[in-house]
Amino acid sequence: MATQDELKKQAAAQAVAMVQPHTVLGVGTGSTVAFFIDLLGARNKQTPLNLKAIVTTSNRSKEQLEQNGFTVSELADIDQVDLCIDGADRVDHHLDGIKGGGGALTLEKNVAINAKHNVWIVDQSKVVDRLGGFPLPVEVLPVSCEQNFRRFEAQGLQPAFRQKADGSRYVTHYGNYIIDLHVDPLPIPAGLAAMLDSTVGVVEHGLFLGMTDEVLIATNDKIEHWTR
Ligand code: 5RP
Repeated sequence: MATQDELKKQAAAQAVAMVQPHTVLGVGTGSTVAFFIDLLGARNKQTPLNLKAIVTTSNRSKEQLEQNGFTVSELADIDQVDLCIDGADRVDHHLDGIKGGGGALTLEKNVAINAKHNVWIVDQSKVVDRLGGFPLPVEVLPVSCEQNFRRFEAQGLQPAFRQKADGSRYVTHYGNYIIDLHVDPLPIPAGLAAMLDSTVGVVEHGLFLGMTDEVLIATNDKIEHWTR
């Protein structure tokens, strides 16, 4: 029986094989993507990929890419991403998912929406019949975060501000807070996404509906390959 890390690495290895030379690559965030970055670096050392550009979704991934010899560009400085590889916290059979466990949801959604092709790499523990089983992150502006918190509470969405180990509020790349919604399973994801999209003060949320084209799922005996 493979460990969860071994499964993550297997999915990551499969994704590395999908990267074409001379293209613009998007790289997400998380422990599965961390395996992808190291494996990509090893491939690039053996046979240079001469990528046109790489963009990424967090400072953590940026540093790791740079350690592997890549130069990282800003999303605003490139035209379009050819392929984006990212992880996910949960994925269902419609290829909808919850992301943002690592707090990088806003950049992740911006890179994904500007990519021609999106691929998620996950281990089998992430697959669910109904989206849930993981808190849904909502990035909110500090200015109205208390009102939005109370609004979510009144809607029965069981909000909690994400905290750092020292008990202070987690602050995103953009200086905002994250409110995790603990409602499980999520009531009608499309309706919830529409409500969050139209809530003033919500910067972004972790419901990624209809956004990925493929999911590579590492299971104990094979890599399952789901496409939209
Ligand atoms: C970060 C994310 C990650 O992709 C997600 O949390 C999966 O991470 P991991 O590969 O560590 O399970 O959305 O914001």
